[in-house]
Amino acid sequence: MDPDILHRFLESVGQKADVDLYLKLFRAQRKESFAIIVADAQIVRAALDPFHFDLRILAGLGLYPVVLVGLLDARDADRQSQRIWEWLVEDEVAAKVIGSGTDLPQEIQTDVRQTFEANAIPIVSLDAAKDLDIEDRFRLLHRLAANLETRKVIFLSTSSGIEREGAPPISLVNLSADYDRLLGTAELPRRHASLLRHVKTLLEVLPQRMSVAVVNPLHLLRELFTVNGAGTLIRKGSRIDRHNGLGGIDRPRLSMLLESAFGRSLVPGAMADDGLLVAQSEFVYLEENYLGAALLANTDIAPYLGKFAVNRQAQGEGIGGEIWSMLTRDFPVFFWRARPDNPIVSWYTKQCDGLARFPQWHVYWRGLPPEKIQFAIAYARALPPSFQTE
Ligand SMILES: CC(C)(COP(=O)(O)OP(=O)(O)OC[C@H]1O[C@@H](n2cnc3c(N)ncnc32)[C@H](O)[C@@H]1OP(=O)(O)O)[C@@H](O)C(=O)NCCC(=O)NCCS
Repeated sequence: MDPDILHRFLESVGQKADVDLYLKLFRAQRKESFAIIVADAQIVRAALDPFHFDLRILAGLGLYPVVLVGLLDARDADRQSQRIWEWLVEDEVAAKVIGSGTDLPQEIQTDVRQTFEANAIPIVSLDAAKDLDIEDRFRLLHRLAANLETRKVIFLSTSSGIEREGAPPISLVNLSADYDRLLGTAELPRRHASLLRHVKTLLEVLPQRMSVAVVNPLHLLRELFTVNGAGTLIRKGSRIDRHNGLGGIDRPRLSMLLESAFGRSLVPGAMADDGLLVAQSEFVYLEENYLGAALLANTDIAPYLGKFAVNRQAQGEGIGGEIWSMLTRDFPVFFWRARPDNPIVSWYTKQCDGLARFPQWHVYWRGLPPEKIQFAIAYARALPPSFQTE
């Protein structure tokens, strides 16, 4: 497929900046770590057309996932794997069907790696594991993902993600916060409850950072190439600590996080003892791996949220939302500002009690008494920039 056509197609999927970013990230990873796409016979029967189109686009971009056929139900997996192969080969996309055996031995894993080296898509059929129970087949997925250091596992679904009866699909499941609640209700269909249970175990035992998505094949590319995604993203969840001040915080690491999030350099000395950010950091929420942070200053008006940031590569995975919910629980009153062209402003509009729009800044507040609003606006507008090109 002509790369220009591919690129133009991707631009129709999401914003160019997002698509370019994800493409760069995926290409920077080791080829075999990109993704495992789990497809069952039902999907191949019902949606082979969009699925094979997704695979064509991905291969055209130089991204080769493993296609794993038959994880949840392995009956007929050989035949369905063969069908996927036939459709791909007809479109000149190189692929190879590989039987998993009952325990995915080393030589089969080597075969998968060699298929990647030949720029082809390995289609791994679990037909030989059809008599195993589902736990044991998940163990095979675990072995494969650990061996390839896979970054993303995608479950193709005929639904648009994890769904509850009578409610819209869930866009994000943060296992550490949502798991008990979701499984404690009878709202989840049995197959989705079972999927969540297995995914939780998988994410707990795998050493690498990995996310899982449940998505309809029609939306797979949107899931992969946009911040908002398309189906349900399942994450293990992060530990977020609250600190008083920057003592005990690795300042260069925090600076790197802020610069990655905003895509700009901090003004020189911003993180020094008398620098701009230190005064803005009386309260700090920090994700354990420095993937996200919120910095608050205590002002005479109310706490001011000076920085809210998630590492660029981890944006859209729910870390910001987790930090935000801790922040709003601890601070019923605070205010902040954002550039009018920041894509997050529409979300801020939903989160705030009020806002004032100026050409350079939008100023937002929560819980602020009316008599303090004008002072909050003046404070936020007058603050000096902390990034160099601001
Ligand atoms: C703003 C930011 C901290 C959000 O963190 P995040 O981890 O990406 O956000 P989450 O995945 O938890 O999503 C939280 C909400 O924001 C929305 N959101 C996140 N990124 C978005 C984007 N680029 N465009 C539109 N909405 C977005 C999500 O849809 C979600 O809304 P929902 O709860 O209604 O589904 C992060 O995107 C970031 O660091 N941006 C760059 C720095 C920045 O602009 N900070 C704010 C300056 S005022």
